Parts: sequence; C-alpha cells; structure tokens
Amino acid sequence: MSNYHIKHLEEYYQVYRKSIREPENFWEEVAEEHFLWYKKWENVLSWDFSKPKVKWFEGAKLNITVNCIDRHLTTNGNKTAILFEPNDPNEAAEHITYRELHRRVCQFANVLKDKGVEKGDRVCIYLPMIPELAIATLACARIGAVHSVVFAGFSSTALATRINDSSCKMVITSDGSFRGSKTIDLKGIVDEALNDCDCVESVLVVKRINSSINMVDGRDEWLEPLLEEAYEDCVPEIMDAEDPLFILYTSGSTGMPKGMVHTTAGYMIYTAYTFKNVFQYKQGDIYWCTADIGWITGHSYIVYGPLANGATTVMFEGVPSYPDFGRFWDIVEKHKINQFYTAPTAIRALAKEGLELVEKYDLSSLKVLGSVGEPINEEAWHWYNDNIGKKQSPIVDTWWQTETGGIMITPIPFATPTKPTYATLPFPGIQPALMDEEGNELTENQVSGRLCIKFPWPSMARTIWGNHQRYKDTYFTAFENKYFTGDGALRDEVGYYRITGRVDDVIIVSGHNLGTAPIEDAINEHPAVAESAIVGFPHDIKGNALYGYVILKDVGEGRVHDNLRKEINQIITEHVGPIAKLDKIQFTKGLPKTRSGKIMRRILRKIACKDTKNLGDTSTLLNPEVVQEIIDNSL
Ligand code: WT7
Repeated sequence: MSNYHIKHLEEYYQVYRKSIREPENFWEEVAEEHFLWYKKWENVLSWDFSKPKVKWFEGAKLNITVNCIDRHLTTNGNKTAILFEPNDPNEAAEHITYRELHRRVCQFANVLKDKGVEKGDRVCIYLPMIPELAIATLACARIGAVHSVVFAGFSSTALATRINDSSCKMVITSDGSFRGSKTIDLKGIVDEALNDCDCVESVLVVKRINSSINMVDGRDEWLEPLLEEAYEDCVPEIMDAEDPLFILYTSGSTGMPKGMVHTTAGYMIYTAYTFKNVFQYKQGDIYWCTADIGWITGHSYIVYGPLANGATTVMFEGVPSYPDFGRFWDIVEKHKINQFYTAPTAIRALAKEGLELVEKYDLSSLKVLGSVGEPINEEAWHWYNDNIGKKQSPIVDTWWQTETGGIMITPIPFATPTKPTYATLPFPGIQPALMDEEGNELTENQVSGRLCIKFPWPSMARTIWGNHQRYKDTYFTAFENKYFTGDGALRDEVGYYRITGRVDDVIIVSGHNLGTAPIEDAINEHPAVAESAIVGFPHDIKGNALYGYVILKDVGEGRVHDNLRKEINQIITEHVGPIAKLDKIQFTKGLPKTRSGKIMRRILRKIACKDTKNLGDTSTLLNPEVVQEIIDNSL
C-alpha cells in the first residue's frame, strides 16, 4: 500500500495510526518509494531528546537537487518548474522548465565552485524574489554548501549579525529590488553590512534593476558574465543524510537570532510528503505560495517541497497592493492557480479593500486555499472562504515553525472537515502533547496547555548553529523529553487543535516572528533611552502590533516630543528592519519589575490591550506604584 497520497478521512486515520505505531517503517516506506538514493540508510531513526540528538536515515547518501530536479528530467523535462511573475504586471512572466532549471542550477553551482566555495562552506543569500534566489539555494545544495538565506527586508545590521554568526564566505545579492513602485538598494545594504564582516571573501551580484552601484575591486563580481562562461552540467556532491542543508535564522528571546540548522534527507522527505498531501497537488496543477523564500515557508513550500514533487511553483516578486489591491487575484486568474497559500495578515489587508477588486477576476481555478504564520481569526477565515474559495475550496490552516521545517498540524483537504480558526489534526508522524504548567501531560480532550511534540519527525531542526546548548535550553528543557514549541493551544472535543498564540516573549507581527529582546536592544542604543520594554497588542491587519514602553535618561520634559518617537523607530529600522517598528510609544518613568529585576511584560501587555481590570497581584513587584502611572498615561 502506498501511504503517499491521502484521499479521505478514514485513510488519514489509518495512515496516522500507522505512523504512530511504527514510525520507522512508516517513514522508511515513504523514503524508499519516492526518492533517489546513492546509498540506502543503515538506520531509520536514532534519538535522545535529553541531549538532544536526532538522526534520520543515518548512513544514506543523496543529493536533494537530484531529487528536486534531475529525477524529473526524463518524464517532465519540459514542464514548468518555476513560474516567475515579476513585480511589474507589464513585464512578461517567465516559465522555467525543469530542464532549464537544471542547466541554470548547474551553471550557478559551477560559478560557486570556481569562486572557491566548497562542501560545508556557508553562503549567505540576500536577494529579492527573483528566480536567481531559488537557483542560488539549489546551486548551494548541488555542491553541498550550506545556504543561509536572509530575507531582503532585513537591515544591514541584522544582515551582518547573520553573516558573522555562521561565518559565511560568500554573499549573493543583487543591484537592487523592485517593491511595488519603489526600488531598494540591496547592494548598498550589503556594502554597509560587510564593513563589519571579515569572513566574506566574495560577493556575487545579480543584475535586476539596472542601477549604478559600487563594486569593490577583488571582492564583488557581476554574476551574469560568470554564468555565461560556466559549464552546463555539474556533478552533484554526494551528501550524507544528516549533512546540513541550510541555516535559517529566527528570532529568539535574547538579542542573538537563532540559526536553525536543517539537514538533508529528513527535511527532503518531510517537505515533499507534506506538500503532496496538504495541498493535494496533482500533476499539471499550478501552485502558488505568496511567502518570501527568506522565510521557512518559502524554503519548504516554494522551493524544496514543490520541486521534489515535480510541481509547478510560482514565485512572485511584488507586493499584494501593486499596482492595486487586486494583484493577487489578477495573478490567480492569469496563471490559473490551483493551490494558493498565504498569510492571515495578507487576507485581512485585502479584505479591507472591498470586493470589487476580487469580483473582477475569475478565481474558478482554485481548489485549495492555505493559511500560515499566525492564528487566522474567524472573520478573515470566512472572508477567505466566501469570497476567494466561494465555499468550494477547503482552507488548510497550517501550523508549523521555522524549527519544525514542515507543516505539523493541518487539515488534509477533502479529507479533514475544516473548522474556522482550528489547525485541526496532527499530520502523520506528528505526536502533539498539551502540557500544564507543572509539566503534566493533559491527555483528555477539551483542555488547553502548552504545545509540545513528544516524538521526533524527519524535518525537525537538529541544532542552533554554533550553540547546541541554546538549542537544548530553548526547546528541550521546559518539559522533559519533549520538544516545546513556545505556543499555547487547545484541543476540542473531537481532538482538533487550535493554536492560541505564543506563551513566550515572541510576538507575531504580520506573520513575522519577532523577539522582544532584539528590538529592545536596538531602542536602548538611542542616547536618550535608559530602558525599554516591548509588548504586542491586537491590530486589525497585522494581527499584533508593537507597543513600546520607554524610560528616558534624565532629560527634561521638553525632550519628549514626536521626533524622539521617529528616532526610535529609525533606530529599530536600522537594527532590525522596518517590520519591527513600533505603532505606539509610551514614555514612562518606570517599568514594573519582579524582585529579581525581570520586567513583568504580562502587566504591560494587559495595559497595552486596555485590559486593566484584571492585572493580577501586583503587590509582589519591586515597584508596584509605577503600574498606576503607566495606566494613567497609556496610549
Ligand atoms: C510561529 C512560528 C510556519 C512558517 C511561518 C512562521 C505561529 C504559524 C500558525 C497557524 C497559529 C501559527 C506560531 C508559531 N504560527 N502558523 N497556522 N496558526 N499560529 O514561522 O516565523 O518560525 O513562526 O508562528 O506562533 O510558533 P515562524
């Protein structure tokens, strides 16, 4: 029996039960039937969450690009692999076939080799959503280099931190990017970052916007002439199952971002298998995920998952609002999109714009709709279901994380009955647990608790780059022998899960995972700032927005003017990026603290949410008197 493609609810339960009863046989069957191996594994799984140490398919040899590209050449060489839709709707879309993708990845890989990139070296990719972004990641994987894609909306400081943390040898960027009616000087940002990065030996520059940029002699080179010279085939590097494939940074509760390390075989199998089932992808379908490849969603469900299935995957360079708020629906009609995967924040922004911009377009090609990145609220869910899916296309509310590598809790469309705001059931192989604060597992239904996973799955991150202790502390110490997600969740009477949000100091703004610490660190760099605390509060479109409480150094009242607010946001933009700007800034004389000096964000959060009736016991605070002052001056 092939478990690869689940078609109805009963089958889901059968497959799920098998995946839990005999996880190793289950994943072995998936791996054997659908992928190319130079050598099979000696052991499917070995694990110990107390270390933590997890290995899947140990001993196996493979190359993921062979599975994502070469494997499809004989049957599907002329099929479109990547369908590129440019920022400007008047610029022609580009259809890159599997054969062409093969050639371009090989040429790019040969350029990397020529420039001295070797197996295991780290390469930072800082590019807009153009085909070269996907091609560069695959080219790294072809030769066994570890890619670290940094979202091209991050600032130069954030970029430099990430380049240095994993000591990248090379940066791949472009002369700039198009974003709606604007252009962004990406190369300028890279130049600034590289002032602080000694590890970088070379920079490859893709020409995209034709701007005149500064090229540093002996370090920077235009990519195109090198590609033209490069040989069109490249023998894939033979990789071990557990060799690192990529590093992707995610925010944490301290200033340093965490470089999550994903490895080869398990990641490949899990992203491929989830892609197939969660989107019910069939040959010939056109699939579009609107995320950026700078996030895990793009890695797993624009590049690796779809390509491993021989799918056609759309890459969109632009923004949902350009040239107007109908752009997404224009693209759905133009390319007859069958599966559409986006974020609740985009849905809410588009829902605000009125239905004329939806009704203009023929959306009848759509079969499955997806949502990811944050809890989808009831209103957005219904708008999506009614107006985009016309009540015909199931919505898959997919819960997962950068750390999990692939989708973990999700409906299977046409199998799992959906329920608004519920991610519903665990994917095969995933064993969730809800825990109370004392560390007991809540085994019944109709409970809520902290969401943990109690058994390894193939695409879980294996470590944090250069800091295994932090990996252990962050994910494996709160609950013994379990992976702790940082999320709270509830389980209803039929076992469906609803994710209720973060229970730690991470705030999800417009679907972006932001740690409070790096933002506070940035604010504290302002010469007038003594201390700060950031919390989230509900926002119509962004889901959450940021509220900053700022203590100024000893300055007169006269200094507290709007300029200071602007300057604070400017500093945040420089250090973290514009997505982390504060919507509200309240200047205050003090912050509520515990006796050990920890800021009580719970209280600040309630004040920011205008929920001041139930602040809990504040008498144990070091400085209970500041609470009333903060309430009186709240915004
Ligand atoms: C956090 C992970 C998964 C790729 C994009 C975000 C929240 C994600 C959902 C969902 C409720 C969700 C969680 C999670 N989240 N998907 N369907 N329902 N919350 O990856 O940046 O690593 O963020 O996003 O809080 O922990 P990420």
